[in-house]
Amino acid sequence: MNEKQRQESSQVNPADKKSEKDYSQYFQAVYMPPSLKDAKKRGKEEVKYDDFGIPEEFRGMGQGRKFYIRTYGCQMNEHDTEVMAGIFMALGYEPTDGVEDADVILLNTCAIRENAENKVFGELGHLKTLKKGRPDLLLGVCGCMSQEESVVNRILKVHPFVDMIFGTHNIHRLPNILNEAYLSKEMVVEVWSKEGDVIENLPKVRKGDIKAWVNIMYGCDKFCTYCIVPYTRGKERSRRPEDIIQEVRHLAAQGYKEITLLGQNVNAYGKDFEDMTYGLGDLMDEIRKIDIPRIRFTTSHPRDFDDRLIEVLAKGGNLLDHIHLPVQSGSSEVLKLMARKYSREHYLELVRKIKEVMPNASLTTDIIVGFPNETDEQFEETLSLYREVGFDSAYTFIYSPREGTPAAKMQDNVPMEVKKERLQRLNKLVNDTSAQKLKEYEGKVVEVLVEGESKNNPDVLAGYTEKSKLVNFRAPKSVIGKIVKVKIKKAKTWTLDGEMVEEAVEVK
Ligand code: SAH
Ligand code: SF4
Ligand code: F3S
Repeated sequence: MNEKQRQESSQVNPADKKSEKDYSQYFQAVYMPPSLKDAKKRGKEEVKYDDFGIPEEFRGMGQGRKFYIRTYGCQMNEHDTEVMAGIFMALGYEPTDGVEDADVILLNTCAIRENAENKVFGELGHLKTLKKGRPDLLLGVCGCMSQEESVVNRILKVHPFVDMIFGTHNIHRLPNILNEAYLSKEMVVEVWSKEGDVIENLPKVRKGDIKAWVNIMYGCDKFCTYCIVPYTRGKERSRRPEDIIQEVRHLAAQGYKEITLLGQNVNAYGKDFEDMTYGLGDLMDEIRKIDIPRIRFTTSHPRDFDDRLIEVLAKGGNLLDHIHLPVQSGSSEVLKLMARKYSREHYLELVRKIKEVMPNASLTTDIIVGFPNETDEQFEETLSLYREVGFDSAYTFIYSPREGTPAAKMQDNVPMEVKKERLQRLNKLVNDTSAQKLKEYEGKVVEVLVEGESKNNPDVLAGYTEKSKLVNFRAPKSVIGKIVKVKIKKAKTWTLDGEMVEEAVEVK
């Protein structure tokens, strides 16, 4: 940073906010709260594609300052955190591992279930003390919760010490928001409810150098009746294939071994292009030609999973045959109330088609129990579907009403006790089948992408198979970041123990 930039950056010292009482007359604090009603609208206007850049006047803003981001929620949020970290670094901030020495703390929140939200409100309670002792600390709330009116109102009322709230569509505005927060005495609230643009060239600081996430689309238009995501993430917008391919090529050149293509409903990729017919199958068919050993994608919606995609996945190679295909319920009646727009039969038929061309494919899923008025029989249908498909594993949840969604208005006659019992029964089935599936690996040789030392034992290395099974084994640290062959000796409840057979540094 040159002297001029240093002077400029010192103009936005947080201390100014407290000492320079007159600042407010020059800078009106931004107050742009969210609206679930606006978020629900799906406009016809074309998506604009824009490039990110740090405005000249903000360069060096972070000189001598540290940032800390705590992430709640799905891969999408994790990846947004990587983008925000990239923006912080581009502004000159340094990362830190703890809140204690951070100059800016962001909570990147998730709104999917009530307990996710409660965690964040609990954390805000803790951070209040820290903030009291260090008034120059900037505290921000972003992510999906900030897209909810009720949350913003609650923060304004109960946690007024928060300095900034910004939404999922405002991430690229982080430099401006930080600047506003330094200058203003008021809480800066900037939440756009109606997204529009797809921003390219966002800086990213990825969490590791072995696996990487790549967004292929944003938003969700499915409006499943229980779900808040279409409101917090806006309408479906696909990135252009050439931008995605360029990003993946760049990651391959940097030596990444695995990429996961990300979207809330990746099977709807390309449906919003007006100038061409191009879907996820077409994209995967191009990406598989890139020299990168492993390619995954998540999350799939059964409704839009088309034959073209199945045909491309069948080509195998670096396209992994592990498919996460959330079913939510095994009852067609419940699926109808959820507005999932497929039936039990449709789902089973899709699974049949996938297994026909990929007999070894492993399937995992998401299931909600205790949807309003779910009967015992309907729940039994979920258990029977689980057995019939033979899922490898599942994420299971008790239904949580989300304010503003249609399901939240449904009368519910299922007591919480019953919901909990159902979850326990389902979890038992999930755990038993997972253990059984893992047992089948004993004696087999699998390919493992070695990620590093095991969390519990630094003498042991850990990595994942193509089907996302965690394998622990002893080997020299030099194999970290490589794909090796491991013979499985013992299956544990959740993981596999093995012995390295050989290095298989094989690209495709
Ligand atoms: N886009 C993905 C889901 C993202 S949310 C899909 O459609 O598959 C991840 C999971 O959270 C969902 O699959 C669902 O099982 C669960 N979920 C979403 N809303 C929920 C709610 N209100 N209560 C309980 N679980 C919910
Ligand atoms: Fe939510 Fe349904 Fe969209 Fe998934 S597809 S994000 S469950 S609305
Ligand atoms: Fe949560 Fe938002 Fe992801 S609600 S699950 S962080 S899209």
